Amino acid sequence: MRLLITAGPTREPIDPVRFLSNRSSGRMGYALAEAASKAGHEVLLISGPVSILPPANVELIRVETAREMFDAVRIHLPGCTAAIFSAAVADYRPAHTASQKIKKSATTLTLELERTEDILGSVRSHFAFTGFLVGFAAETENLIAHAQDKLSRKGCDLIIANDVSQPGIGFDSAENEVTLCLPGGQTIPLPRQSKTTLARELIAHISRLSSLKSPK
Ligand code: CTP
Repeated sequence: MRLLITAGPTREPIDPVRFLSNRSSGRMGYALAEAASKAGHEVLLISGPVSILPPANVELIRVETAREMFDAVRIHLPGCTAAIFSAAVADYRPAHTASQKIKKSATTLTLELERTEDILGSVRSHFAFTGFLVGFAAETENLIAHAQDKLSRKGCDLIIANDVSQPGIGFDSAENEVTLCLPGGQTIPLPRQSKTTLARELIAHISRLSSLKSPK
């Protein structure tokens, strides 16, 4: 496979020294990139700011904002046979970025936010990607129902669903426990394990399912 993977958080600037972001460490996406590369796949990793080292033999494109990640995906997706969207993209950004540091004055400050680009949601509709498409669903309730809904709304072939209400897994953790959601309502639960071993298992599933979709 030639595989595009998005990973990490995005940063949406408020002023020259502040931004909106989230707790994503990038570990799941980086572990997937490493597992895929070790399994012999060609990997392009599009990453928001993280503090971990990129795996060897992976082409890395660094971005900061959701818009930059959107542009990088749009440019690099053609030619890929599969794509995994593991980045925790900010859903909103400040509607205006101040050109100078905002000084404190009133006791409250209201920020107006606007929606960012839905990168995964654009892959089929705007980028006309026909390869194997994998999204993540991080949910705190009704995990499978929300994941199945995301699968059909975004035209995915697979959603990797994780329950982020459980302590010790998912966001900013070394471990994860996920359920694979496939078209037709099929689900495959995978046990709690390190992101490294889970990544190997996920790449094996993705490689198998993607070759079933488009046999070589
Ligand atoms: N995603 C993306 N671009 C965004 C937001 C999310 O590519 N602007 C991708 C994530 O990388 C992940 C998937 O979409 O693979 C699910 O993200 P989530 O925010 O849970 O999806 P939404 O459909 O926006 O769900 P919700 O209604 O729960 O906000």
